[in-house]
Amino acid sequence: MEKTQHIPVLESEVLEYLQAAAGGNFLDCTLGGAGHTLAILQANPKNTVTASDRDERALKRAAVRLADHASRVTLLHADFAALSGLLKDQTFDGMLADLGISTDQLKENRGFSFNDDAALDMRMDESQGQSAADIVNGASAQQIFVLLKQGGVGNEARAIANAIVERRPYGTAKELAAVVNQTFARVARGKAAQKKVNPSTVVFQALRIAVNREFEHIESLMELAPRLIRSGGRIAIITFHSLEDRVVARKMREWESGGEFSARSPGSMRAKRLGHVVERKGIEPSAEEVTRNPSARSACLRVFEFSSIDS
Ligand SMILES: C[S@@+](CC[C@H](N)C(=O)[O-])C[C@H]1O[C@@H](n2cnc3c(N)ncnc32)[C@H](O)[C@@H]1O
Repeated sequence: MEKTQHIPVLESEVLEYLQAAAGGNFLDCTLGGAGHTLAILQANPKNTVTASDRDERALKRAAVRLADHASRVTLLHADFAALSGLLKDQTFDGMLADLGISTDQLKENRGFSFNDDAALDMRMDESQGQSAADIVNGASAQQIFVLLKQGGVGNEARAIANAIVERRPYGTAKELAAVVNQTFARVARGKAAQKKVNPSTVVFQALRIAVNREFEHIESLMELAPRLIRSGGRIAIITFHSLEDRVVARKMREWESGGEFSARSPGSMRAKRLGHVVERKGIEPSAEEVTRNPSARSACLRVFEFSSIDS
């Protein structure tokens, strides 16, 4: 198995905001190429990390990379929804989720990239669920339209969904991208038509989100986090597009305020306030980092500190 090609994003910021140098036990629930896990282990010789990922290939690669620190690392094959059952009563000083896919997944010819002359799979966990091919070759135009809209595709979503159904079946990612790009060129108007980004980018992102049920998993993670992190501990979440960033930011505000319910019904029972948002606007990579690693360009780090404040 080849070495990881993934460069961790916002690495020094993650270490700083998780206060990793101070020592503690951490949960990295998006192990990927193990860059952040390794940095946390190196930040303090007493640090321990429980590191999980839904992709078994990531775990195999990381086991080799982290071999020198094996006594301080526990590796788990788990998605966010499965973590609650596996971690039971454990608590952590800090927790990291670096959302989305890794450079390794993008380069492994698994259909994540629209340039892949390979099967349209897109499952991060290859042992579970429907592949992207199952969806584009089997779902109705309406179902495809809905998932494209939910994944951020603009006004062209209807025409693209119809074209996907008319021109199927698809063997490879490249074949699907060709249909998407032709349709987009035919129907896009105004600003959308002038954009330099390949139109398949957002369509492939929407499909990936649907295949991996990414929003449901983020919701599970946000439900779980308050139980997993000790009072005074922090969660750091790196998002890569506005759709997931909105979910994370909204949930953190809810933790801080004691819940939407209390805001809408003044005087009613308030839920418990769980702590505070650290850096309200989120933390973005420096220009230097984006130049060095263009994959960091849309990253935003959101941090929340849990405490036992009662409202
Ligand atoms: C951006 S990469 C993480 C890179 C890592 N921080 C590093 O430094 O190498 C995201 C990783 O999270 C995993 N992942 C994404 N969503 C997940 C979920 N719902 N449950 C578990 N793992 C997930 C992916 O399989 C991928 O390996």
